[in-house]
Amino acid sequence: MTLTVAVDGPAASGKGTISKALAAHFSFAHLDTGLLYRAVGAQLLQGADPLEAAKALRAEDIDADALRNSAVAQAASKVAAIPEVRQALLDFQRAFARRAGGAVLDGRDIGTVICPEAEVKLYITASDEVRAERRYLELSAKGQDVTPEGVLDDLKARDKRDRERATAPLKAANDALLLDTSELSIEDAVAQCVAAVNAARNAG
Ligand code: CDP
Repeated sequence: MTLTVAVDGPAASGKGTISKALAAHFSFAHLDTGLLYRAVGAQLLQGADPLEAAKALRAEDIDADALRNSAVAQAASKVAAIPEVRQALLDFQRAFARRAGGAVLDGRDIGTVICPEAEVKLYITASDEVRAERRYLELSAKGQDVTPEGVLDDLKARDKRDRERATAPLKAANDALLLDTSELSIEDAVAQCVAAVNAARNAG
């Protein structure tokens, strides 16, 4: 059985939390594709050439904890605008999406570019203020030196870059289910997404 769930949306919209919960619920594999761009961005910050870094990326380079900070996030959205970098990361993501047993991928272009044929497409949003609050709590809980205003500026700058780039810009696929999580609990948001996956499974 292969079944792909494509989850897209702007920064800190809740797509990572929802994707993890969906993968756990259905025993699907999960790929946070943002980590691929973050890993390349981190190498750029260390002086590496981003295209060479993308081509040479190995699973060992992806240390999620070390990659979750604002400097790496900004670098990620810069390297993510380079078409050749995106191309270098494409085959890995497509193969992951079609692995046996089902897969959830979250990112910016999963439903539009990586897996336009995905059986389920979700586009997760939340207001700027709610997203900034969530990310501020997450980063400050890890002991990072952040301010609510700084986090909001970071999210807005990345969203703008992600939406305006020429290659694979952030946008909802035409056939995506849109879910605004600003006023939804995690449980309610996940329940709606579980229902969407079940509907696709029953239809298939
Ligand atoms: O967790 P958050 O939503 O803040 O960001 P992320 O998903 O880790 O992605 C970091 C950056 O990588 C984004 O701002 C995008 O520029 C880029 N990205 C992308 O271009 N395409 C993807 N499929 C995933 C991430």
